[in-house]
Amino acid sequence: MERFRGLSPAEFFHRNREVAGFANPARALYQTIRELVENSLDATENHGILPVIYVEVQQDPENENRVTVIVADNGIGIPLHEVPNVFGRVFYGSKYVIRQSRGVFGLGVKMAVLYAQMTTGKPIYVRTAPLNSPVEGEYYLQIDISRNIPHVLRARFRRKDRDWHGTVVKLTLEGSWLLAKKRILEYIKRTALITPYASIRLKTPEEDIKFKRVTRKLPEPPSTGLYHPRGVDIEVLKEMLRSLNSNDITLHEFLVKNFEGVGEKIALDFLSWAGFDPGKKVKDLKSEDLEQLATKMKAYEGWRRPRPYTLSPLGSQLLEEGVKRILSPEFVAAVSRPPSSYGGHPFIVEAAIAYGGEIPPGDSPLLLRFANRMPLLYDEGVDVSRKIVDSIDWSIYKVKFPAPLAVVIHICSTKIPFKGVGKEAIADVPEIERELEIAVREISRELRLYLSRLERLQEARRKEVIFRKYMKEVAGALSYITSIREEELLLKLEELVRGELGKVSFVEEGNGSGSE
Ligand SMILES: Nc1ncnc2c1ncn2[C@@H]1O[C@H](COP(=O)(O)OP(=O)(O)O)[C@@H](O)[C@H]1O
Ligand SMILES: [Mg+2]
Repeated sequence: MERFRGLSPAEFFHRNREVAGFANPARALYQTIRELVENSLDATENHGILPVIYVEVQQDPENENRVTVIVADNGIGIPLHEVPNVFGRVFYGSKYVIRQSRGVFGLGVKMAVLYAQMTTGKPIYVRTAPLNSPVEGEYYLQIDISRNIPHVLRARFRRKDRDWHGTVVKLTLEGSWLLAKKRILEYIKRTALITPYASIRLKTPEEDIKFKRVTRKLPEPPSTGLYHPRGVDIEVLKEMLRSLNSNDITLHEFLVKNFEGVGEKIALDFLSWAGFDPGKKVKDLKSEDLEQLATKMKAYEGWRRPRPYTLSPLGSQLLEEGVKRILSPEFVAAVSRPPSSYGGHPFIVEAAIAYGGEIPPGDSPLLLRFANRMPLLYDEGVDVSRKIVDSIDWSIYKVKFPAPLAVVIHICSTKIPFKGVGKEAIADVPEIERELEIAVREISRELRLYLSRLERLQEARRKEVIFRKYMKEVAGALSYITSIREEELLLKLEELVRGELGKVSFVEEGNGSGSE
């Protein structure tokens, strides 16, 4: 006899941890740090707080494969009664809304807890002080895997003894610091690039690295928005109708009140196009009607584009500052494209290009990928931006490989089309591809101007060297012919050389058109 039963979400991820990025001890350590840091950043910058993030990795002196991770932030904290579910129930969180954030699934930190629990048996420790609350709390907890509920081992609350807000999380897992070290350092560095306003400190068994913020300017935090009519399916529609306070409203009212960019007129136009009576009460909609409505909403061409107030792009200036912070290049240009959308989800592509400085020369451009201000380190080969960068013929932008060239891509959206829940690669969505290509080409043209100017300066320098080599002889000969003093002639010649050089750089900076 077969025996049947259900599988709890916690049980599923316990068994299939690799789908969330916890495949082995090295990857698990990297992923744990990533999930904690990203929660910390969401809890600060999305609420207008300049982030101060502390990350510590300690190795157990007795067992080198046992690692303790501590991440502390100055974020908004967590309401004390929410702590158990937030850390102990898979698919529980505050980010299931239409707004750009790093977290999406309400899964990340629970994966870290699960992994710690199954490899070392130790509970997670959380200390949190919510903003504007007089109390703070401490928890030790684990996950009851088969029931997907938190199991609190100890909890303590007390009055804040100083005025602070934020969260500290500590957990011990089986992890390989040695194997994960490089990735983790790279991850923190890239995080520092995409958050120039954040102060981040990483304390490892060997080093204590500090990235002090380079600006106090925060990007405008995103607002919470409504669904775009193209972004819903039947189930979302049903759920929206279920959660309506009153079922007595008309279809027309329902559309106008609950969707992004749908005014009275657009709603009427759509309903007549789709063959629905605008006065029909939503409570009278049958299952077939809903199906029809969802299909037509996706197909209708007349909707306004979703507005981007739910997004929080970095802006070209902050992006440039971030690139300078980490790559110290000789040249950098950045662009923040106007908003666009795919399937009802707004998105913005930002890109920067950097040349020289600390960028190691490579046979193809170094690609730094970011999505909603998260660095993406794995699976670059299948990412849409690698495809775009590789499709460009760089010689038309005067790049000769090996070249110290880096391309930085940042995509922000309320729904990043990730290829997996580990959030490492972005799928090929034609609308995104198009924006990426435009962005990269736009900044590459600036690079081209820079490189041709560089070329001309080098040419001028080369001439100068030759000229100087013969200057004394020429002055001597001229002095012999004209009987003007050699020193005087040398001074004149020197002036001439300087004049010519000055002309080159002046013209280049002015309009970039050539002159020799
Ligand atoms: N450091 C933190 N500060 C404030 N809130 C946090 C922090 N870490 C986690 N949270 C809360 O816990 C929830 C669950 O986190 P997580 O499991 O990582 O899922 P997600 O980030 O996808 O929402 C978050 O939505 C957030 O509300
Ligand atoms: Mg998270």
